[in-house]
Amino acid sequence: MLKFMREQESFPDQTENEIEREIQQLREKIVGANKAYYQDDAPEMTDAAYDDLFKRLRQLETEHPELVTADSPTQTVAVKPREGDGFGKITHGKPMLSLDNAFDRGDIEDFLKRVRKFLNIPGEERLEVTVEPKIDGLSCSLTYENGVLTRAATRGDGYVGEEVTENVKRVAGVPHRLTGETFPERMEIRGEAYISHADFLALNEKQATFGGKIFANPRNAAAGSLRQLNPEITASRPLKMFFYAVGDLSEPIAETQFELIEKLKAYGMPTNPDTRICASSAEIVAYYEEIERKRADLGYDIDGTVYKVNRLDLQERLGFVSRAPRWAIAHKFPAELAR
Ligand code: IVH
Repeated sequence: MLKFMREQESFPDQTENEIEREIQQLREKIVGANKAYYQDDAPEMTDAAYDDLFKRLRQLETEHPELVTADSPTQTVAVKPREGDGFGKITHGKPMLSLDNAFDRGDIEDFLKRVRKFLNIPGEERLEVTVEPKIDGLSCSLTYENGVLTRAATRGDGYVGEEVTENVKRVAGVPHRLTGETFPERMEIRGEAYISHADFLALNEKQATFGGKIFANPRNAAAGSLRQLNPEITASRPLKMFFYAVGDLSEPIAETQFELIEKLKAYGMPTNPDTRICASSAEIVAYYEEIERKRADLGYDIDGTVYKVNRLDLQERLGFVSRAPRWAIAHKFPAELAR
């Protein structure tokens, strides 16, 4: 009782019975709030109100360990994963390639020279590339059939990924139905799932309130949040996506990478606003440096820039070697080289 009275927020004249009753009520409220939040996607109280209930329950249980039960919300994970033996597998219509790395201006010049040589384009002829921020998240491939999202998969080994359709449907901003009237019958659209800096900090704070997993960085949090067997957990995480590429298409939707991104945007898909066309190593480097300066203010992690030959017919001719395209390269920021 002495220990109990020392606690500021406890009521010293509460009887054992009253304490038991309060604990019971707190548990019922928390279980109800968990269900509303995770299963019904319809939160019934603010995070702060939830945190207060949880703190009070934890306090009472610390003071009265004999009243802790195995099914108390303080002792269990809020939502149990769906029964089953893991994710289904999806074979990508076109493999999800990785990118070779460039580290300095010399590497960019070599890349442009290789492209020109392969395509037989003389030095004086204009060769456009897009420069895009390289989002530090986790790539996904979404299949739209007649404009409707029907499947989504992680990259996996590049050929076969994990099925995460229901999870991706719960990511804010991902259209379940595309905007517009006519669409190719089938499209694989690719992008990066990520968590912003502010959302990452808030997520870790929330995780800490119930002894949940604390994520090391936003990329890690994005991967852990998307790869959940229970899609309602994904729904509760602040994931976002940027779309930047296509895989298998039943018919073409653009002639250049830049137009492709515009098209995805017109479909209602989130695209990165910092994509630009450059036509020389000097322009590329200047824009890379501009993005590097902007980096801290973007509000989400990028680990470099990506350069892609703009014309899609040229990309087709260039093809790929082993698992990286000849038509694109990633330019990593120096601090990220060690990774
Ligand atoms: S294009 C063959 N564009 O970087 C083209 N990838 O290191 C492959 N990434 O697996 C993707 N931002 O997860 C592309 N604007 C962007 C990107 C981007 C991030 C990731 C993607 C890819 C990895 C390659």
